[in-house]
Amino acid sequence: MEKILVLDFGGQYNQLIARRVRDNNVYAEILPYTTPLNEIKSRQYKGIIFTGGPNSVFDTASPHYRKEILELGIPVLGICYGCQLVAWMRGGKVATAPVSEYGKIEVTVNTKSPLFKGIPEKSVMWMSHTDYIAEAPEGFRIVGTTDDCPCAAMENREENLYAVQFHPEVTHSQFGKQVLHNFLYVICRCTGDWVMDDFIENTVQSLCKRIGNKKVILGLSGGVDSSVAAGLLSRAVGKQLTCVFVDQGLMRKDEGDFVEKTFTTLFDMTFVRVNCQDTFLEKLKGVTDPEEKRKIIGTEFYNVFWNEIRKEADKGFFAQGTIYPDCIESGKGDADVIKTHHNRVKMPDDIEFEGIIEPLCDLFKDEVRAVGEKLGIPKELVWRQPFPGPGLGVRIIGEITAEKVRILQEADAIFREEMAKTGYASQLSQFFAVLPNVKTVGVMGDHRTYDHLIALRAVTTDNFMTADWAQIPYDLLAKVSNRITNEVDHVNRVVYDITSKPPGTVEWE
Ligand code: XMP
Repeated sequence: MEKILVLDFGGQYNQLIARRVRDNNVYAEILPYTTPLNEIKSRQYKGIIFTGGPNSVFDTASPHYRKEILELGIPVLGICYGCQLVAWMRGGKVATAPVSEYGKIEVTVNTKSPLFKGIPEKSVMWMSHTDYIAEAPEGFRIVGTTDDCPCAAMENREENLYAVQFHPEVTHSQFGKQVLHNFLYVICRCTGDWVMDDFIENTVQSLCKRIGNKKVILGLSGGVDSSVAAGLLSRAVGKQLTCVFVDQGLMRKDEGDFVEKTFTTLFDMTFVRVNCQDTFLEKLKGVTDPEEKRKIIGTEFYNVFWNEIRKEADKGFFAQGTIYPDCIESGKGDADVIKTHHNRVKMPDDIEFEGIIEPLCDLFKDEVRAVGEKLGIPKELVWRQPFPGPGLGVRIIGEITAEKVRILQEADAIFREEMAKTGYASQLSQFFAVLPNVKTVGVMGDHRTYDHLIALRAVTTDNFMTADWAQIPYDLLAKVSNRITNEVDHVNRVVYDITSKPPGTVEWE
């Protein structure tokens, strides 16, 4: 398989670069700038992309790389900091720019450069830099400029070395997509062999080979990743796969039944559903502190799940839905403090498996979804919004009771139903109902009521670190409010949360 290396120098768009390369049907992987040259050589890349980064190349403490990487005969594209690094490694002059460029900037390019094939001479690209290449190194031709940047792109065609000061990976760069396409297909001569159908076929084959006639156990949460992992494993080994689904009673209305029905009717596997709503409610009785609730739900889940696994006489392999961003080593900061961000399950010491299987560990989330759709997993699961591990437990403020769970599930289901009907749901990153545990006075017919309040929350966001509250149309809110107060017993008031993050968080607890 053709591979592109994205060599990470700590920039914020590094995963985006790899995703954009993969959008072009070429596999890309991210490695930190501390990866030894020999390792890079042995992986036989078709091309290497140096990423951006927040540092200055002339600062000795900044991330650098051995200049021999430019002599491997593998095409290189430097982006932003990576662009300056190529210049610096080859003896060019990099300095603080008299004028920093930030945002959409008009760039003039030499359309004869293979990098700019099919791109107009003038277009808008996204810039974000305070240093610039004051003098291009010997052997390089300047093939791009802006009003304030005398070297916005340069090439050494003979050695297949290219560098751009702008960010082709972001959508604000008008022809950025074409620049990356040119690098991959014109310069690196890729053929585009990264396609999801092949991925499924190859993965299924290698899973069959590795698992043989042994068993595999997977913890299924009903989330996107574990569902797609289950689909792949089922296709590979059918009944040898046991999915353990712990229903703690804090999922959305009918969600547990939906997950069970999907996996027992569409897929060949052994499906074990552990219903333990009562145990969870018992443990949560009288507990009001949000962190305490989280801890109890987490610990109880861990215990129930592993006790179930312990019952399996023949354990075989343990599978999980880890995806690529969980495994990437960051190139930020000092080599000594580089950490791996493995979002992996902690196992009890007394349980042993043949090995761990992570069939999605090379995929980004959008690729996981594409595989899920191809496997025939329903859209509700493939496009499921993020749902917190502790479930409705963090959406019921204060003590959790069966009655409150019922009220919240009903109200939340109405909200989701109305949002889906209008098609508005697909424009939002996350939306749900909250039970704030507040009772207010109301009037119903001739009677005074004193009942629960429901809050509606809906946000848009790229990354969940910050989020905007969504400006849902009033008539849609009115419909939802009407239905909730009419159809859900013991709710007499509905409010809409108009707080962004920060200062609020997405969840209420
Ligand atoms: P916050 O509330 O921190 O939420 O703004 C950001 C994103 O994280 C999800 N979230 C959680 N997910 N366990 C999870 O697995 C949790 O305890 C948890 N708390 C928040 C939240 O739904 C949102 O998508």
